[in-house]
Amino acid sequence: MTQNSEKSAILEEIIYSRRSVRNFSPEIPSQERIEKLVLAGLNAPFAAAAVGDRQDFRRFFVIRQDSPSRGELEMVVAAHLKKTVKKLTSLPFKALGLTKKLAKLIERLKKAKLPEAPYIIILAEYNGIPSVAPQALAHAAENIWLTASAEGLGFQLLSMFETMKTDKALCGLLGLKPGEYSLLGCAIGIPMEPMGPVKRPDAKTLTKWL
Ligand SMILES: Cc1cc2nc3c(=O)[nH]c(=O)nc-3n(C[C@H](O)[C@H](O)[C@H](O)COP(=O)(O)O)c2cc1C
Repeated sequence: MTQNSEKSAILEEIIYSRRSVRNFSPEIPSQERIEKLVLAGLNAPFAAAAVGDRQDFRRFFVIRQDSPSRGELEMVVAAHLKKTVKKLTSLPFKALGLTKKLAKLIERLKKAKLPEAPYIIILAEYNGIPSVAPQALAHAAENIWLTASAEGLGFQLLSMFETMKTDKALCGLLGLKPGEYSLLGCAIGIPMEPMGPVKRPDAKTLTKWL
């Protein structure tokens, strides 16, 4: 059995080496490695009181880069982004001054697309009562992220899927009822280049002891 200090040192090393990877090598990680990530995501906390006895409170959709579903997903995402930009630049948004305020976001959305990564994983969490599925998904994503770091795999969070839980085309592709599950996505692959450790401000300046 590993001593607690050794376990803590390993955990610390994983936490500080976890980074957002946005540039992936074309090399395809094995299915077993992806299954390990899915298992880590499944073992993250879930809101038991909100989802009741459902065994399918959390679902995982693994989309391979060379699959027909990947092409479909690209089209669905492009259509969703176009619709979002259209909405944000529509007359009511302009009249409220929101189009101007959101100019940077709109420019980002215009250029957004799925990353070139061997796998896209879409995580889905059942929307129970109270609705805390997005928080649960963040826990699942963090477990996957840390496991990916420990495994030498790259992870990019794709928050665009958060706004797509009622998108009929996406839910149709995944076989979900629109609105029944909240969604979050991530891209997985081998990092193209090594990433440095995380950089954050000094914790002492951000902590107040009372
Ligand atoms: C709620 C949330 C949403 C995020 N969405 C995205 C995203 O859609 N695409 C992306 O590349 N990174 C996304 N990120 C990653 C952050 O940009 C990243 O964690 C931050 O810049 C710090 O970099 P690091 O992860 O390398 O430490 C998101 C992070 C959080 C917490």
